[in-house]
Amino acid sequence: MTRQRTIAPEATLEEPILDRALRPQRLDALIGQERVRENLRILIDAAQKRDEALEHTLFYGPPGLGKTTLARICANEMGAAIHVTSGPAIERAGDLAAILSNLREKEVLFIDEIHRLGKVVEEILYPAMEDFALDLVIGQGPGARTVRLSLPRFTVVGATTRLALLSAPLRTRFGAIYRLDFYKQAALEQIVERAARVLAVPLEPQGRIEIARRGRGTPRVALRLLRRVRDYAQVRGDGIITGKIAEEATALLEIDEAGLDNLDRRVLHAIIEKFDGGPVGLDTIAASIGEAADTIMDVVEPYLLQLGFLNRTPRGRTATQNAYEHLKIPFEQVEQGLLF
Ligand SMILES: Nc1ncnc2c1ncn2[C@@H]1O[C@H](COP(=O)(O)OP(=O)(O)OP(=O)(O)O)[C@@H](O)[C@H]1O
Ligand SMILES: [Mg+2]
Repeated sequence: MTRQRTIAPEATLEEPILDRALRPQRLDALIGQERVRENLRILIDAAQKRDEALEHTLFYGPPGLGKTTLARICANEMGAAIHVTSGPAIERAGDLAAILSNLREKEVLFIDEIHRLGKVVEEILYPAMEDFALDLVIGQGPGARTVRLSLPRFTVVGATTRLALLSAPLRTRFGAIYRLDFYKQAALEQIVERAARVLAVPLEPQGRIEIARRGRGTPRVALRLLRRVRDYAQVRGDGIITGKIAEEATALLEIDEAGLDNLDRRVLHAIIEKFDGGPVGLDTIAASIGEAADTIMDVVEPYLLQLGFLNRTPRGRTATQNAYEHLKIPFEQVEQGLLF
């Protein structure tokens, strides 16, 4: 079993309570993601001017960047309730029919991991999104008939880490699709600063910088690091998060200056040492280090690509010169290897 990664972007159990306090409630309170914020502002204002429900909206991007937060913001801005569910939670067509028939005008149905919806369930969703209609089959066998119920105008907000796995018919039913990017250093620093205020943790500017730098462009990761560094500051220091304390605490967690942890480094080491720097397929990498390919694809690869440590080529992944330099492995090794 793999140990819980401190920088795993997936949420852990202790987090929901804190999340509620830290999550921005309104679009204007959202830090970073300027492009999404601007577009969404127009979408929301336009819907309100016309007194209509918000268009169906899809957010995609790596875990922990704020998809759920944005879904809640959509509902808040529209002054409407939000119903939260997820692709794997809706097992049968009947489950979705029940959810849909409980929705009211302008309410938001948030479907997390929407790429994991079953085919049969998806087919109920198409007419619901497009025509606000619910087709119910009454009875069985030859006597069965379909009844079409009309639904109030509601909004589906979908979230996915894998846009490519979304079926084309489902994708086309969204009026707006937004990609979330990794956050820049300045935005992460603001997020850490704000959270420290809410948690009443004394945070020095250099402490903030060091935490944000190791937050892999991901608010959830940066916030989790803040909590771990706070623990360390309370146990080993006087409670104040200084630059030095942040460096020591994260080093103890085996997180380096670029925000890489053990798993990230193992992936890079495997590509470089076992496969001469690549190209090598994702499944091969995963097998060679005994990790799930999905984990590597969702949480390791996007950040390594972003840092420019990894390239994706048609023949597989390759490690870049930057990756060699970061790991302090001489880059010439590659050329020498090729001479044989
Ligand atoms: N722009 C932001 N400003 C401040 N905090 C943020 C921002 N975006 C996200 N957060 C915080 O980061 C955490 C993760 O956000 P959220 O749950 O919305 O991510 P997500 O993209 O839905 O992740 P997942 O794909 O794992 O569901 C939350 O605690 C949230 O409060
Ligand atoms: Mg989420």
